[in-house]
Order: sequence, then C-alpha cells, then structure tokens
Amino acid sequence: MPMLSVHNVEKSFGGIKALDGCSLEIRKGAIVGIIGPNGAGKTTLFRIISGFEKPDSGTIVFNGEDIGGAASFEIARKGLIRTFQIPKALTKLTVEENLLLAPQFQYGERIWNVWLRPKDVKRQEAENIKKAHALLEFLGLLHLKHEYAGALSGGQKKLLEIARALMVDPKMLLLDEPFAGVNPTLALRILEWLKELRDRDNENDGITIMVIEHDMPKLMQLSDYIYVLNKGKVIASGAPEEVRANERVVEAYLGGA
Ligand SMILES: Nc1ncnc2c1ncn2[C@@H]1O[C@H](COP(=O)(O)OP(=O)(O)OP(=O)(O)O)[C@@H](O)[C@H]1O
Ligand SMILES: [Mg+2]
Repeated sequence: MPMLSVHNVEKSFGGIKALDGCSLEIRKGAIVGIIGPNGAGKTTLFRIISGFEKPDSGTIVFNGEDIGGAASFEIARKGLIRTFQIPKALTKLTVEENLLLAPQFQYGERIWNVWLRPKDVKRQEAENIKKAHALLEFLGLLHLKHEYAGALSGGQKKLLEIARALMVDPKMLLLDEPFAGVNPTLALRILEWLKELRDRDNENDGITIMVIEHDMPKLMQLSDYIYVLNKGKVIASGAPEEVRANERVVEAYLGGA
C-alpha cells in the first residue's frame, strides 16, 4: 500500500487550472522530489494534500485513509505535516517557543492538556524541551533559542520550519523548497539528515518525505524518485537519472532558457 496516492486531482482558480488531472503515488519510506517550472502547480498540490485547499475533484488517500476534503489539522493529526514555501514562524515568539508550541500549533488544539494528567503534562513538557534543543543544536540554531523568530534570516526561518514540523514525529513530511536561502554547507547536512530520517529503523518505520525544490543537483542527490509537473499535470517521473535524461523534462524546465 502506498503512503500517499493522489488520483486525478483538479483545481482551478478562476480561469486558471492550477492542477489538471494530477496523479501520483508515494511509497512508504521514500523521498520523492517534485520539480517543475514556476506556476506548474507544485505548491497548490501541497496545499491540497495538506488540507489547506479543497480539490475540485479527484481523490487523496494517505496511509489507507481518504483525506480529500479533510481539514488541515485533522490531516496533521494523522501524521502528515507540511512546511511552507514562505516560512510561517510566529515572529513575536522566540525560536524555542515556536518549537514548544509546535505540537499544539500543528494539531490545531491543545491535545496534551485535554487528556494527560498534570504530572504527565510536566513530563511531556520536559521531553519537548529536550527534543527542541536537540533539533536546534543539529540545525546550528541553539544559540538563537531566545531570539524572536522574526529576527532570523530567511534561511534560518526555513530551518525553524523543518524543526517545527519534526517536533510532532510526522509519518510524512511535505517540504516546500527547504533549501532556499539556506547556506550550502548546512543544506548538505540537512540533506543527509533527511536521508537518515527516511532510513530510521523504529516502530514508525522511516519517515516518508515529499519535497519541492528548484535546486536540481540537491534534489537529485536527495530523492529516490522524482515527479515532474508542468501545467498542473505529471509529465514525467522516474529515478533521478531517468528524469535527468528525459527530453520532455529538459524542455519543460529549461524551455525558455
Ligand atoms: N490562491 C490562488 N488564487 C489564484 N491563483 C492561484 C492561487 N494559488 C495558485 N494560483 C495559480 O495557480 C498556478 C499554480 O501555482 P503554484 O503556486 O501551485 O505553482 P508552483 O509550481 O508552486 O510555482 P513556484 O515554483 O513559483 O512556487 C499559478 O498560475 C498560480 O498563479
Ligand atoms: Mg510553489
């Protein structure tokens, strides 16, 4: 059973067909790259999968459940978490607070407080702090934990987005241009880290990742499989080397260049 299957999804905005019969399948534990020219429908696809937008038609099945039309917080609670092309950090909160609020923020309610006893809440908080600090340390942001998120650079905000998504141990992550504005050395570390998350051997299996990225060399290095979108449709898919050799892709992607 695939982790995610998108079948024949259509979405129009006025006269613009952002998605025009888009279908794809993502195997559990894979890292799948999405490429395509500006306006191809990549972000719209993410918005629809994550419930921030309703499809006009088509089906979306995540982990065996039909999630088409479900609310974003319900989808997040099922373990499918997205990050944003333009980071959505809460700028008036510190870096650390952004991470500690992440579980509640992602799920849309204070789930822990609803059913845990005070002692459990304390323990949960301590665990969250530990986890937050470990993530910040890895991303080189720990020294900034008391800074307002609004004061971070664009690249640092991107990293905070990823850290926030990982606070809730997602089954699947949707990353929209995670490397834009991140310095190349750190980008490479994140890339390796994402592969580790995929390969992680625990009871949840590895995490499944879908990533939109314009940086082709990085995407090729990261992905097990790539889908190419153009004008709201998948025009090609395959292993990175197959996609790189595909003339339609070169034409769609480099068309005007
Ligand atoms: N809320 C909206 N209202 C109107 N048009 C929209 C909306 N969202 C997307 N579109 C249009 O849908 C098309 C696909 O946009 P989308 O943002 O999904 O592209 P993209 O592949 O993510 O592009 P980029 O690489 O520039 O991020 C574009 O023509 C865009 O202008
Ligand atoms: Mg986009």
